[in-house]
Amino acid sequence: MNAPSSGIEPIISLAARYYTDPAIFENEMSGLLSRTWQFACHASEIANPGDYKSFEIAGQSLFAIRGHDNVIRTFYNVCQHRAHQMVQGSGNTRVVVCPYHAWTYELTGGLRAGPNIKAVPGFDRSKICLTSVRTEDFHGFIFVNLDNDAAPMDEWFPGVRDEIAAYVYNIDSLAPLEWVEVPEKCNWKVSVENYSECYHCPMNHPTFAEGVVKPETYDISPDAGGGYVLRHTTECQPMDKMTYPFDATKPHAGDYQSWFLWPMFSFQCYPGNILNTYHWRTEGHDACVVYRGWYTEGGQESDVIRKLAVQDLETTVAEDVTLVESVQKGLMSKGYVPGPLVVDPNHGVNSEHSIAKLQQWMREAVDG
Ligand code: FES
Ligand SMILES: [Fe+2]
Repeated sequence: MNAPSSGIEPIISLAARYYTDPAIFENEMSGLLSRTWQFACHASEIANPGDYKSFEIAGQSLFAIRGHDNVIRTFYNVCQHRAHQMVQGSGNTRVVVCPYHAWTYELTGGLRAGPNIKAVPGFDRSKICLTSVRTEDFHGFIFVNLDNDAAPMDEWFPGVRDEIAAYVYNIDSLAPLEWVEVPEKCNWKVSVENYSECYHCPMNHPTFAEGVVKPETYDISPDAGGGYVLRHTTECQPMDKMTYPFDATKPHAGDYQSWFLWPMFSFQCYPGNILNTYHWRTEGHDACVVYRGWYTEGGQESDVIRKLAVQDLETTVAEDVTLVESVQKGLMSKGYVPGPLVVDPNHGVNSEHSIAKLQQWMREAVDG
């Protein structure tokens, strides 16, 4: 005999088509991913005036460039003459010269010169400018948003700027030591969901669960502080069980916390005030790339951080790649009927309340 119904139904996981249908992915590219803050690059990668770096967000080629005024601006990577791309990769330049007909732009985007343009009656150079993109510097992390009307990051992610500075006291002097690039054959949301719950950790991440954190204390708070942030917290193993050495004297030295910034970025602070990041790039509806960033002051060499990056790649990351790629295959299965999320009202590690929140944002993004 079944137990009497409480009248409350569990929340059912997102339908498979959200992860497998190319039309939904197209919708996300022109909608969600064009209206949210996306990581572009670290300011230290374009440290000097004229330094630039190109990248792609929501299918659009963009480049960030540092001006003579030291301000970092971002532009669509397209000439306002007849649409040739302006730059490739990264580099340094005094002015931005289009490779097609040599129109030349200032680092601030204004048209400076072009062969024979003065001969054109009515040609007004001052009206022509590379198309700029909203850009914010978040403790040296450069984010862009293709929506000119987007609310600033501090409204999307209230409190995070100050909280991170408290956990990572040297965040403003950090530079990337290493980017670890991890291709995954799955929809970006499968990967982001996997990152956003630790219900799978005790079973799948022995090193993470035994060498860094105490899984029984792991929790994710979708509502603390509001905004589109998922904060992960946990108590850490005692010093002698940690898999790496660190200076325990700084505030928050013994703490772990991460701040996932919807939809595709996460700051993660390991014990020892060690910052590492995740950012995702889409590669179509069924593939993405996860980048793990590891930082030191000024990008200086560090055996400890290099080893941590390798340990992370060989354990947690490799374990997760297997999981997410299996899930993507499963989402294509005719036999999959989405199951209830394990949402424990008291949260804790064995709860998927964070997935319920993420899937709510995912539904809102696609279905309005
Ligand atoms: S397309 Fe750039 S100068 Fe002609
Ligand atoms: Fe994982």
